[in-house]
Amino acid sequence: MAGGGFATASNGVEFEAKITPIVIISCIMAATGGLMFGYDVGVSGGVTAMPDFLKKFFPVVHRKVEAGADRDSNYCKYDNQGLQLFTSSLYLAGLTATFFASYTTRTLGRRPTMLIAGVFFIIGVILNAAAHNLAMLIAGRILLGCGVGFANQAVPLFLSEIAPTKIRGGLNILFQLNVTIGILFANLVNYGTAKIKGGWGWRLSLGLAGVPALLLTVGALLVTETPNSLVERGRLDEGKAVLRKIRGTDNVEPEFADLLEASRLAKEVKHPFRNLLQRRNRPQLVIAVALQIFQQCTGINAIMFYAPVLFSTLGFGSDASLYSAVVTGAVNVLSTLVSIYSVDKVGRRVLLLEAGVQMFFSQVVIAVILGIKVTDHSQNLSKGFAILVVVMICTYVAAFAWSWGPLGWLIPSETFPLETRSAGQSVTVCVNLLFTFIIAQAFLSMLCHFKFGIFLFFSSWVLVMSFFVMFLLPETKNIPIEEMTERVWKKHWFWARFMDDHHDDQVFSGVNGKKSNGKSNGFDPSTRL
Ligand code: BGC
Repeated sequence: MAGGGFATASNGVEFEAKITPIVIISCIMAATGGLMFGYDVGVSGGVTAMPDFLKKFFPVVHRKVEAGADRDSNYCKYDNQGLQLFTSSLYLAGLTATFFASYTTRTLGRRPTMLIAGVFFIIGVILNAAAHNLAMLIAGRILLGCGVGFANQAVPLFLSEIAPTKIRGGLNILFQLNVTIGILFANLVNYGTAKIKGGWGWRLSLGLAGVPALLLTVGALLVTETPNSLVERGRLDEGKAVLRKIRGTDNVEPEFADLLEASRLAKEVKHPFRNLLQRRNRPQLVIAVALQIFQQCTGINAIMFYAPVLFSTLGFGSDASLYSAVVTGAVNVLSTLVSIYSVDKVGRRVLLLEAGVQMFFSQVVIAVILGIKVTDHSQNLSKGFAILVVVMICTYVAAFAWSWGPLGWLIPSETFPLETRSAGQSVTVCVNLLFTFIIAQAFLSMLCHFKFGIFLFFSSWVLVMSFFVMFLLPETKNIPIEEMTERVWKKHWFWARFMDDHHDDQVFSGVNGKKSNGKSNGFDPSTRL
């Protein structure tokens, strides 16, 4: 990483770049985009565990919960498709919106796309907080989901483009840090609002999402468009002026030239999604998709969405359930800091492999305790065991938070070459939201059918993904993006075979199907995003 006021350029040259106020405002943008996403992730579980909310929208579930384990299995109290839809609809909408967002980020720019996200969020929050029937509630969640789709596409791209290279990786994880802060904030709010007697606590929980939503909207109005986006849309003079402003220097010619070149190369790619499917892009595509699937199959969102419900299933009182959710939320935030600190020192693979062992171990312990202590119709989880379960859940969350949480996003963002980066980002977000949706929709039913075995199910996935990391995930620590092909992919025992330039279909075909050798076109990722 470059030091001082310089950032490393694609060709190894250093560009002059100061950390200007505008870059700092960008960090705040990252905060609000991430906070919003995190708040939505965290809020639904606590609300779902509130009796007044259940009574109003899901009376069937409310009756089951009230009746206790006498009627239904402990593990099945919350098994209701509608209830799961309340959580999951957001992700389904989000993944659909990602495709539109990919279009607007390209044609309208990053800034208007963030603004669209903010507006979706605000309307969604209003519908949710004012909901007097299930339709309004779900419609609100769908609009929030559209916001997530637009924000998760535009904000990370905006950040990568506005940040000097030397702080780009850090900013990327900062986004994740803010997701975890959003989750914690939502858990804290739920803890407070659950105590409100008038039956409107859930409205406050859902309504307070308006705070990050407003911040994101105002932020989007205040910040500048990125130079990359301006150049991409032919507004060259404006692009150069903005570059001067954000870098805090008039000496931007080298970076601007690089940007023009990158944009020219990117424009040559007429079908970014088709390009993504070409053989030589296979390693990045497989890894990006696999990482998203694996990230969700760790089972993290079973905890993030449903921790209060899960704890209540285990026999914790509703206060203790929410309190425990706050504890796991705090562990999530603190452990993400560990990742920011260590990711460029110990590397991605070490974090992922260590976390694999830790997650596997804690999930198996949880399954064993529950298997012995919590049966369908009785639960005798003593205080000691209850605390052990919480400690094990925290052990598990900590491991996730310094590995799969941030790295699931970081690694795809640093491995795609420019020609496929935007399309790659869409696919990444989309697959992530798809699997988030599946877990959100299925978890409570899975808990009902698998019972304690659900934790063994997720732990088997952890085993599979750890083997994947061990054999198929190359280390990308401290490797400049533009050198990934030469230094990572071409040297990898397995992926190197896809990098063979002689295959016709591996060679980039530019405009009008023109073939060229990888060097003078997008295959030489002279990239700066
Ligand atoms: C995941 C989310 C998850 C969060 C938990 C993120 O990286 O994509 O699905 O809720 O981490 O902190």
